[in-house]
Amino acid sequence: MLENKIEQALNDQIAMEGYASFLYLSMASWCEQQGLEGTSQFFYRQSAEEHDHMMRIFRYILEMDGKAVSPEVKQPPQKFESIQKIFDDVYEHEQKVTRSISKLVELADEMDDHTTYQFLQWFVLEQREEETLVRSILDKLKIIGDGPQSLYFIDKEVTMINEREGGSPGE
Ligand SMILES: [Fe+2]
Ligand SMILES: [Fe+2]
Repeated sequence: MLENKIEQALNDQIAMEGYASFLYLSMASWCEQQGLEGTSQFFYRQSAEEHDHMMRIFRYILEMDGKAVSPEVKQPPQKFESIQKIFDDVYEHEQKVTRSISKLVELADEMDDHTTYQFLQWFVLEQREEETLVRSILDKLKIIGDGPQSLYFIDKEVTMINEREGGSPGE
């Protein structure tokens, strides 16, 4: 059984993960149009991961005999200024998600919902890993730059990250 307040907050989180999935899909499209194949692959995988996050919460609500809501997703931006701006935006978005997860954890704690509290721990760790990953790319961008001459090297760096993070999108 889920309290209404928790169920609502979890459904809001579903919408947030869903938006992230489509935002990253949009970024993948833009990167592929720019010929940045490694970076587009990175975003296809991130998009699939966000979809997985959404489904984890969706499944959880239903397992707890609640009502999981398929969210309305607003159109994400389709044009981006630069690779630097994209990763700045991603970092900002991930920090926003982290704050939202923290609020959920606080709410579960306040309401003595130990089951949801424990369920959310996976997300706490996931957010820590995602922020670290994006920060490592921003650090590389700081060194390499994002001018036309640098794009090839940035894309190579991101390709290496893809290989390290494992496999093709959705794995
Ligand atoms: Fe997520
Ligand atoms: Fe994320």
